[in-house]
Amino acid sequence: MLNTFQQEQHPLLPKSTHDESSRQEFSKSLKAFVQQGLLPGLQPVFTQRAAKHFEQQHGRAPQDRRDIRKAMEVDLYFQHYAALNRISQEAMWNSVIDAVDRQLPELIEKARDWSAKTKAELRMDPDFVPPKYVTALDIHCMPGGYASEVTKDDVSVAALYDRGAYLYGMGFAGPLNDDMGRSVCNYIRRNLPGFKPRRILDMGCTVGHSTLPYKQLFPDAEVWGIDVGGPVVRYGHARAAALGVEVNFAQMNAEKTDFEDGYFDLIVSHILMHETSGKAMPRVVRECHRLLSPGGYVIHADLPPFDNMNAFTQFILDNETWYNNEPFWGAMREVDQIKLAVDAGFPAADVAFATAPMAILEAAAEGAAGYTDASTSAVADREFTAGEFAPGGGWEVLIARKAVLA
Ligand SMILES: C[S@@+](CC[C@H](N)C(=O)[O-])C[C@H]1O[C@@H](n2cnc3c(N)ncnc32)[C@H](O)[C@@H]1O
Repeated sequence: MLNTFQQEQHPLLPKSTHDESSRQEFSKSLKAFVQQGLLPGLQPVFTQRAAKHFEQQHGRAPQDRRDIRKAMEVDLYFQHYAALNRISQEAMWNSVIDAVDRQLPELIEKARDWSAKTKAELRMDPDFVPPKYVTALDIHCMPGGYASEVTKDDVSVAALYDRGAYLYGMGFAGPLNDDMGRSVCNYIRRNLPGFKPRRILDMGCTVGHSTLPYKQLFPDAEVWGIDVGGPVVRYGHARAAALGVEVNFAQMNAEKTDFEDGYFDLIVSHILMHETSGKAMPRVVRECHRLLSPGGYVIHADLPPFDNMNAFTQFILDNETWYNNEPFWGAMREVDQIKLAVDAGFPAADVAFATAPMAILEAAAEGAAGYTDASTSAVADREFTAGEFAPGGGWEVLIARKAVLA
């Protein structure tokens, strides 16, 4: 079933013409068709055809996701699926670029105006060099990545991400693309009663989609979003102001920030880790430990590890590594994150994985504003397959608490 949510047209979001909207809706529907129409055919193709061919050639059954890839990549159905998936991804970004380019001078002006209206801080660093794992390729095929700047005070990649991320998720992060942040906030509200962080940091915040819910949950807290991309923090600062939420933004690297030891009581991230690298990830975890006050919490929401998933599911998920410019996607799922946290200094008894149920499902069930009847049934009828970020309708979070006595 196709999703029927619409994105909230906040003041910074590029406006689309009729033709642009129709291309965007087409790309969203094409993605849905690939996910819901073609993807389910892969398992029977594997069992009934590809696995048998593999066995004839190798004298044994395929054993792990690498064997399954060998078996599948020569199969016409899989080739068709993978090619259409890639085409739909490229078409999706392309459907947004024209709207961004057309309005760029106006968007830059609006960002300046909104930023000037808020008391929240914006820290830019003209000498900042983003890490190679962000700049070496266009992650998930997004033209320009997160950090490219082609003009003064550029916000183009940020506007592209804001609209594109909504289409990418086919609307399932909600009208403000903030489901991950809202879900983790709900998790905190339910599972950490009485926890009242004074300062909160969101690492890899991009345009602040998931950052804003923390200020809404903890209005007295000082909230910061940091990212290595200049345009995204610039746009994020203005977007927050336009939405009436006072959040500070800074261009900083989560591996080594400028904040002092113990500054934050809560540190969060949402799908940051899988876009870093094998060397960067332990550094980020160590930085979290340094930045937390005694008894403070860190919560990283990201892709569920490969453990406990069958080889076929792993193969499906790993397609992102192979065909969607996500070099660390598969490898990150094999990292022992509990060990990383313990090595960084978190007590083993206070490190665990948990699931934060998707806020959007709960809001839809309650008929909350912005989650219409039509979308309620679209969400409720939707099968959250293991191929998606939130299998079973929940975000996977790694949660760790710093020792009270350091
Ligand atoms: C998938 S996006 C995160 C989405 C965002 N958290 C949200 O909820 O909408 C990953 C972000 O992490 C940023 N990033 C990657 N490595 C980083 C690092 N070492 N420090 C800070 N940000 C980083 C990228 O620039 C990108 O904006």
